[in-house]
Amino acid sequence: MPAERNHADRQHDLGGRDESKNGNVPYHVAIIMDGNGRWAHQHGMGIEDGHRAGFTNIEPVLERLAEEGVREVTLFAFSTENWQRPPDEVESLMSLMSDEIAAGAKRFNQKRVRLRHIGDDSRLSHVVRDKVREAVALTSGNSELTLNVAFDYGGRSEIVRAIRRIVSEGIDPDVIDESTVERHLYTADGSDPDLVIRTGGEFRISNFLLWQSAYAEFHSTPTLWPDFGEHDIAAALQAYASRDRRFGARPGIDSERHGG
Ligand code: IPE
Ligand code: IPE
Ligand code: MG
Repeated sequence: MPAERNHADRQHDLGGRDESKNGNVPYHVAIIMDGNGRWAHQHGMGIEDGHRAGFTNIEPVLERLAEEGVREVTLFAFSTENWQRPPDEVESLMSLMSDEIAAGAKRFNQKRVRLRHIGDDSRLSHVVRDKVREAVALTSGNSELTLNVAFDYGGRSEIVRAIRRIVSEGIDPDVIDESTVERHLYTADGSDPDLVIRTGGEFRISNFLLWQSAYAEFHSTPTLWPDFGEHDIAAALQAYASRDRRFGARPGIDSERHGG
């Protein structure tokens, strides 16, 4: 099965359900990995330990999701607003990112995971930027699972960037449609998330995938990200499977089957 779907498929997703997809398993799961700070506090540890524990939890979660049949995962690791945090914390997140991505790239490559970065890499240090680019290049031929790492990512700035690029390309306003915008987002080559999970108990999206999650199902769990494990994944996928995705249309025969 191809790891990516084209724009026609994405349009199809919004236009109605696709029964050819892998049953009720989401194709694309996006995760707002929140709660590292509270986890560190609970364990009497510093914030850097919390973020380290958070990074350590990424691979087991990815493995489990892949086993369940998920084909694309987007992880929110650092938002455009997270630069407002204390310099020490930002520094620790940057160094964790650069260490983890360099070490992780080889393992991801062995597991045929394709890594992509979404976000603004111009504000990252040369060291972090180079490691991110190397990891993306190393894994670019893989198609078992696509992992989008949202790092210095913000949905609003992504949309502003898309508008700028559309204008600078001199595209005729009359021909601009939704697919034009999609092609100019960081996520141009990917699919829209079917399920957005937020750990740490909040019910907000904090500037994550604003455009792409238009019709995503949302699942919030109080579990803090470093503790998010197999049972939480099962609960999230079960919640997703029980939803009746209508995409604004009149419920049909499928909604009866799902009890909606
Ligand atoms: C999420 O954990 C990770 C990032 C935002 C980088 P937090 O650090 O926000 O954890 P809480 O919300 O303070 O517990
Ligand atoms: C969202 O978490 C960003 C990431 C998980 C990277 P935050 O902790 O930054 O979000 P708010 O401040 O609670 O909205
Ligand atoms: Mg938080």
